[in-house]
Amino acid sequence: MKNKKKIQDEYKKKVNRLINLNKAYFDKDKPIVSDSEFDKLKQELINISKKYTFLKKIKDLSKIVGFKPSTKFEKVKHSKPMLSLGNAFEKKDIIDFKKKISNFLNFKSDVQFSAEPKIDGISSTLRYEKGDLVFGLSRGDGIFGENITENLATIKDIPKKLLDPPEILEVRGEVYIGKKDFEKIKDKFANPRNAAGGSLRQKNSSETAKIPLKFFAYGIGEVKPKLFKKQSDLLKRLKTWGFPINELCETVNNTDEIEKNHIKLENLRSNLDYDVDGVVYKVNNLDFQERLGSTSNSPRWAIAYKFSSVKASSKITNIVIQVGRTGAITPVAKINPVTVGGVVVSNATLHNEDEINRKDIRIGDTVTIQRAGDVIPQVLSVDKAKRGKNSKKFIFPTKCLCGAITKKETSITTKKIDAVRRCLKGYECDFTAKEKLKHIVSKDAFDIEGLGKKVIDNFWNLNLIKTPADIFRLDYLKIRKLEGWGELSIKNLQNAIDKSKNIMLDKFIFSIGIRHIGQENAKIIGNFFKKSKHFSELFNDKKRAKILQNLEDLNGIGDTQIRSIEDFFSNKKNSEIIQSLMLVLNIKDMQKISQNGVFINKNIMFTGGFEKMSRSEAKAIAEENGAKILGSVSKKLNYLVIGNSKPTKKKIEKAKELKINIMTEENWYKLLNR
Ligand code: IVH
Repeated sequence: MKNKKKIQDEYKKKVNRLINLNKAYFDKDKPIVSDSEFDKLKQELINISKKYTFLKKIKDLSKIVGFKPSTKFEKVKHSKPMLSLGNAFEKKDIIDFKKKISNFLNFKSDVQFSAEPKIDGISSTLRYEKGDLVFGLSRGDGIFGENITENLATIKDIPKKLLDPPEILEVRGEVYIGKKDFEKIKDKFANPRNAAGGSLRQKNSSETAKIPLKFFAYGIGEVKPKLFKKQSDLLKRLKTWGFPINELCETVNNTDEIEKNHIKLENLRSNLDYDVDGVVYKVNNLDFQERLGSTSNSPRWAIAYKFSSVKASSKITNIVIQVGRTGAITPVAKINPVTVGGVVVSNATLHNEDEINRKDIRIGDTVTIQRAGDVIPQVLSVDKAKRGKNSKKFIFPTKCLCGAITKKETSITTKKIDAVRRCLKGYECDFTAKEKLKHIVSKDAFDIEGLGKKVIDNFWNLNLIKTPADIFRLDYLKIRKLEGWGELSIKNLQNAIDKSKNIMLDKFIFSIGIRHIGQENAKIIGNFFKKSKHFSELFNDKKRAKILQNLEDLNGIGDTQIRSIEDFFSNKKNSEIIQSLMLVLNIKDMQKISQNGVFINKNIMFTGGFEKMSRSEAKAIAEENGAKILGSVSKKLNYLVIGNSKPTKKKIEKAKELKINIMTEENWYKLLNR
């Protein structure tokens, strides 16, 4: 037998390596090695520990929390999407949020809100049928979650059976670890949130069971029959079913009460045994919630009002520039590493040239850094008293890293000069192109697992990927020779890339990164073109002008978007790159917006103010019922709905001329059966 001490030392070394790899994977979300290498090490350790039982005393492998979770959980579609929340940082944001709600609902008075601490954990959904817990899902991408039932079932707070249940009930809430419990396992994870996430995604539920996970319920998904009228009643009822409800939830009625409640919770924050990063304000009336609906990412009826951020002081050692995917030049301060709220920060954004000038920020300055939630750390202020005599004003570079001259554009709508300098070369600039690639593979775009930012950087440097189409003709033989790439990880990458080739038209439009075309606008444009072959007509210089005119009619698309689309497609290199990408993809047509609406295949336009609902709500309802909203009167229009207050005469006249069906607000409600 080998020397016992030697075996122990080797084992310790390997266990430490595994813990570090685990940390990189969970805490930093940056795996250092391939899956196969990780698995090999894990297997090796299991084998050694079986052979030499005395090793168990040093480190019992089953006690290494965060034994890497498998990515092989079954994916299940959420009955209703699990959305995220918009953020508010100050009173003004709350006032704006409330204004939007009253405008949408056409209300003058205040609406009531349910105020709930925003627990910083991992959201999950639990489905009960006839009172039995049938499955539990992680949020996943919001549309598809991962089936993590067994792991969720290990959490004591989660009831497995409900008394007096409705036929179907989906409960949504946050899984978290208490601060005290976290203390016991803190050497393995960066923070409680990572620990909860990592534990929930264990393949082996007996590992999850060892972690003291807890649960707070905050809402519902599908429920049959409909039971509740208010969010606050819903919380009360969830409590009687045995779900833990945060005891600090209450209702508030106006901005002042929101402010008071926010301050109260911020003061309580440090005394709570769980991490809270803000307060969620939800419209309490569930009918109103339904009317308000959501944008593609977040509900219009709720907002997360974040707590103020944590600050620290450090010294700027350099100022460099970074190029974003839209060509935006962002100055970044390199600072002496400093811990801000538990995270080591060595870069902080300086936003733009104007910000640097306004604050007169210089290399060598001592500055205050702020980090708020998941937002990039920023430089708040300069301590000029600590400035050295030889300090020099920072001169902002006027050239991009690619050498091209950068420009500040003038906004079409506000006529103001943009604070941000941009490189306008698009795919012609290597730095912009690389960022565009990172966007293309990201979660909301092609969502290619295994092709993260770091891998793109690496493949770019090795000339493996230079344009989006290159992703789909990767030289796997070359990759196989690279360090860290084993059979399994290559196979996984290949599968993920193949799968991503089938992409919906709207996701594709979002992915190609046209400035000012976010997810919401991409959906609007996708629904307009319906098929990729129609979308392709944008590449045709002659047809484009006419198409853009029609696009202008769409609700949500304005001059800024139109100009940006024109700029994008008139750039020859962009066109070439996107066209060759389209050749290797299978872009799926948009599905009909609604299969059973009253307005299926109908084009509607609204003019004038309405009495019972806002125009935004009328538009949202029409769209839910299958209509396409047009912005101008043309032969394509089927209905023109006129509100009582100040309808545009010209539009009515033109509609009459074209013999278009004109409807009053009253008839509109009749048609909707309201
Ligand atoms: S409501 C559609 N309520 O915050 C809105 N979310 O950024 C669904 N969270 O993914 C969320 N406490 O993980 C809601 N009382 C609360 C919450 C809460 C924590 C988390 C949740 C969600 C995220 C949204």
